[in-house]
Amino acid sequence: MCGIIGIAGPEGSDVVPMLVQGLKRLEYRGYDSVGIAVVSDGRIVVRKGAGKIEEVARVKGFPELHGSVGVGHTRWATHGRPSDENAHPHLDCKGRIAVVHNGIIRNYSELRERLESKGHVFVSETDTEVIAHLVEDELRGPESFMEAFRRALARLEGSFAVALLYAAEPRRIFFARMESPLVLGLSSNANYLASDIPAFLDYTDRVIVLRDGEMGWITSSQVYIEDWRSGRSVEASGRLRKIPWTAEMAAKSGYPHFMLKEIYEQPAALRNSFRGLAGDKSLLKAAEIMASADRIFVAAAGTSFHAGLFFDHVLGRLAGRIAYTLVSSEYHRLEGVVGRGDVLLAISQSGETIDTLKAARLALSRGARVVALSNVIDSAIPRESSIAIYTRAGPEIGVAATKTFLTQVLALTMLAARMGVASGHLDEGDAKNIYQALFKASSLVRKTITATEGVVRELADWLAGKHSAYMLSRGIGVPLSMEAALKVKEIAYIHAEAYPAGESKHGPIALVEKEFPVFILSEPGLEEELEGNAAEMKARGAKVIVVSGTGRPSRHLDLQIRVPGAEDFMTPYTHIPPMQLLAYYTAVKLGYDPDKPRNLAKTVTVE
Ligand code: M6R
Repeated sequence: MCGIIGIAGPEGSDVVPMLVQGLKRLEYRGYDSVGIAVVSDGRIVVRKGAGKIEEVARVKGFPELHGSVGVGHTRWATHGRPSDENAHPHLDCKGRIAVVHNGIIRNYSELRERLESKGHVFVSETDTEVIAHLVEDELRGPESFMEAFRRALARLEGSFAVALLYAAEPRRIFFARMESPLVLGLSSNANYLASDIPAFLDYTDRVIVLRDGEMGWITSSQVYIEDWRSGRSVEASGRLRKIPWTAEMAAKSGYPHFMLKEIYEQPAALRNSFRGLAGDKSLLKAAEIMASADRIFVAAAGTSFHAGLFFDHVLGRLAGRIAYTLVSSEYHRLEGVVGRGDVLLAISQSGETIDTLKAARLALSRGARVVALSNVIDSAIPRESSIAIYTRAGPEIGVAATKTFLTQVLALTMLAARMGVASGHLDEGDAKNIYQALFKASSLVRKTITATEGVVRELADWLAGKHSAYMLSRGIGVPLSMEAALKVKEIAYIHAEAYPAGESKHGPIALVEKEFPVFILSEPGLEEELEGNAAEMKARGAKVIVVSGTGRPSRHLDLQIRVPGAEDFMTPYTHIPPMQLLAYYTAVKLGYDPDKPRNLAKTVTVE
């Protein structure tokens, strides 16, 4: 979705280069248009336009702007096409209030109609512009801006994170949050706000994560937060956290793309994750709660959904249980089903995906307990859940999830193993063996990357010429093949579909013709059945590529991507890296930017 940044610097400083830098760090959230506003000599000056940051900054002359307090925005269009007019910031009629916004104002048509009837003139098609006019409309006489802002917020319906400049209070940036992420960053001589921590990680690692219903303002030396519904001020210092992320982690560090860097970071991320989770009390507690639950539901989206499906498989294998796993946007299905005694596992890398958050809220409202698995400390989903487990993968900037997926499956395997012990399905010795295997996940990924990168690069040149591909597997490999297909689809724009291999005969095989790409992710113990499926594909002219850890040659394959051998629950660490690299190199070959796939945003905060 969109990205917001605001910087309140000391008087005389110039925050424009920092705003631009912050916007570049936020580009993964949305990137069809960009804009900044600063207060200069008591006036608000805005520069904005459709296009990527570098280009808009050059064409619209961002470097000519100067100011010590400013806001910036990178947009992922919802209401109104990408255009100069629809780019944020948006102004009120007099140009004294500037607004940047992430989210959706659901009642904007009604508000706009009412404001227009009162004489307000709108210049964009966005829902955001109503906020500027609404606050302007609420500004009365000597009242403070906060009063007007508070009243305006009470009229808004939907999800929003907003930052406002007001020309008459040039040292302040006003903000509010409802269902869209907003984080404050505090430092000794300046304060920041942003949709996501990496935006200001170059300047500070001291953060306060705002909660729904909070509003306030920052200056270079002060922070004020209140709950606008109760009007009570919030004690901010108790919420201040130092996060274990560095600016280096959120930088490309010499790699051509974040995605490649993050694929390469997987061994370190897994090491960190394992270390943190091995003695994690929350994980043990969650395992106990889940082991004694009547039913286990899982809600997640995209890659996190695939991690959820993987969990369902390992749960059966390690704890003899089954989980009902659903795509979180289908959370309505939980209505009338989930209840007291049940547990919902909400998996979300960002911790802010709105559908997963809604699933969690629904489960909680019906008396179930919610266990969150996230990568972002204090984000909405873990904060609202009964108990939170963190993957500790470090910041992930590339839109395509990579290292966060492998750390999710690591955490979920540990969780399933502990549930197995808690329910008596496994003994401590079994769990120890599983942990010992998981300890090696990091080196397994390193070896896999070394062994496969060359062959995968060559294969990418061939795949780049194709329009469609199948990814087939069985058992635990099925969610892995779904993840592989998603990677190819989202960054290389090649239609890739995953099926349980046995299911491919029930329709999908009709599409197979000469040289049709079929990738088979082999699974220990299921090789024979998969070989049968490979033969069926080959017989119809498919080019069959098998990712496998066994040296067994097959007549039915055209190419083997040979990976280190591993047990089934360890195959994510051998089968996923080559497929991530395949998607990456195919995208690069086709001239696409894998970090910023078209139409996608890293965090989906609108339904
Ligand atoms: O932050 P979340 O894990 O909740 O995000 C879920 C999906 O939006 C995300 O996994 C998405 O599918 C990625 N682009 C996959 O690479």
